[in-house]
Amino acid sequence: MPVIEFAGVSHAYQDATGQARTVLREVSVRLTEHRVGVIGANGSGKSTFVRMLNALVVPSFGSVRVDGLDTAREARAIRRRVGFCFTDPDAQIVMPTVQEDLAFSLRRRHLPKEEVARRVEAALDTYGLAAHRTQPAHLLSGGQKQLLALAAVLVTDPALVVMDEPTTLLDLANAVRVRERVRALAPQVVLVTHHLDLLEEFDRVLVFHEGRLVFDGGPAAAVAHYRGLVLT
Ligand SMILES: Nc1ncnc2c1ncn2[C@@H]1O[C@H](COP(=O)(O)OP(=O)(O)OP(=O)(O)O)[C@@H](O)[C@H]1O
Ligand SMILES: [Mg+2]
Repeated sequence: MPVIEFAGVSHAYQDATGQARTVLREVSVRLTEHRVGVIGANGSGKSTFVRMLNALVVPSFGSVRVDGLDTAREARAIRRRVGFCFTDPDAQIVMPTVQEDLAFSLRRRHLPKEEVARRVEAALDTYGLAAHRTQPAHLLSGGQKQLLALAAVLVTDPALVVMDEPTTLLDLANAVRVRERVRALAPQVVLVTHHLDLLEEFDRVLVFHEGRLVFDGGPAAAVAHYRGLVLT
């Protein structure tokens, strides 16, 4: 598994008046587990934290490394290793049809055409999208779109897949489908969610509260800690 290292990471965003507001404070953590969950209240810093994993956000202080690569200096190399799935798959679907969207993910890999076709076929098959291959991607259902977004990340064969609330917009059946897919993933996974049952079999769960990493442990203990924070 990749080695993720946050060393003394703090982050401030500028608000509309140009004032810096600190949203992540002194986070230091080393993650080597297969499946890592991230939970915490709205606004606690979870998305900011995971966006640092593929250099979507570069920390104001401290450093983030994935397999020794510093996200502030080696964003391109980082993005070849780290796939990112957004909550809203529409943010990620760029090509008109399902199969074109999958092939588009591979554009920077400089793979032979046959290899692109082979990977696209495999992804269509795995994600139950084969029947929709020539369909306009924007006409897929919410669940199908989320599966397409996940498939588009996975065709690139990332070492680490980051998912920020991938089931939030989905109905129960589709949430279960995505959950099954996540369970079967071979690459390392860092997943943010408010669906706490998604994390049942995770190896490690981080709890954020007001920008701080306040708990780090197994899923049951982490969920109990989170409940204690918000329900007291
Ligand atoms: N691009 C941005 N510019 C300015 N402020 C931001 C930006 N992104 C997030 N913030 C602020 O940073 C804080 C942490 O946001 P973040 O999105 O990391 O929280 P979160 O834990 O993912 O919340 P949620 O559960 O609602 O998704 C919030 O107060 C938010 O308003
Ligand atoms: Mg968020």
